[in-house]
Amino acid sequence: MSQFKGQHILSVDQFNRDNIQQVFQVADKMRPYAHRQKRTKVLDGAILGNLFFEASTRTRVSFGTAFNLLGGEVRETAGMATSALSKGESLFDTARVLSSYSDIVAMRHPDAGSVAEFAEGSRVPVINGGDGPNEHPTQALLDLYTISKELQFHGDSIEGMHIAMIGDLKHGRTVHSLSKLLSLYKNIRFTLISPQELAMPQYIMDEIENAGHSLRITDQLEGSVDADICYQTRVQEERFTSKDEANKYRGKFRLNQDIYTRHFQSKTVIMHPLPRDSRADANELDNDLNLNPNLAIFRQVDNGVLIRMALFALTLGVENIVEKYDCEVQWYSNKQNI
Ligand code: CP
Repeated sequence: MSQFKGQHILSVDQFNRDNIQQVFQVADKMRPYAHRQKRTKVLDGAILGNLFFEASTRTRVSFGTAFNLLGGEVRETAGMATSALSKGESLFDTARVLSSYSDIVAMRHPDAGSVAEFAEGSRVPVINGGDGPNEHPTQALLDLYTISKELQFHGDSIEGMHIAMIGDLKHGRTVHSLSKLLSLYKNIRFTLISPQELAMPQYIMDEIENAGHSLRITDQLEGSVDADICYQTRVQEERFTSKDEANKYRGKFRLNQDIYTRHFQSKTVIMHPLPRDSRADANELDNDLNLNPNLAIFRQVDNGVLIRMALFALTLGVENIVEKYDCEVQWYSNKQNI
């Protein structure tokens, strides 16, 4: 039996290399369903409570899509204003109520620790879709899965790789969670590129160093030319005390084709958790990279569905019987050729 069955997924601290491998193996099996080559009804009758109290496009919709692809139904709450949390209801009470309507819950909330607090009141497994600046474990898993696939394509592996993380490393929960997961592997070279005020939190840098990895901290792009992965981030405007404060850093680390060519090797994979801020004064990842074959941002998005399907299958204990409930796809889908 999987160790994930019936468990909450709240933090990347719950993962080790063995159970990450298990998630990735199940994710690989989900590809034909995501590509509409076949479908499954393994979760027919199950209900996902998809509770997003903070803005989201990818995470919210891909959790719902992943559940639907496994044959389940989705009930959604989007935004704080339409929830009784805005009337002062506690996270505990909200969890008791909503977990009685659902078989599993995916949740995002602006406060660090809020999803764990919710999980204490929940009678069903809860998956963290991002809790403030703290963690985004499913994003970290899909990022790691993407890194492993991209490096495999280039004949490389995670062990010994060099990753350059760029931008708002202080507030970016995706880089926090990804750094912790990468620290489970051997001999990773981290280059952390940010203004000093937006540096990676010290406790995460300590974890990286204590695990024996090499760490270079800088506010310049220079010196990362042999990076295997360039992981760009957005200035997390919503985590600053004011827009003026965030504006000090907007547009500070832009990446476009010309900058990429000058600072990275021709096979460096470009990643970003998205959304990228495409407004002219930010534009941290320019559209002129869209045709660069090393731009992996939309492959990250595709992989997000596979990883979230795998986590649902594992937490609900159906990972070995998905194919037993296969049925045919009746409609035309150009995804079948992907
Ligand atoms: N990557 C990510 O979390 O995107 P959303 O904010 O759109 O969910």
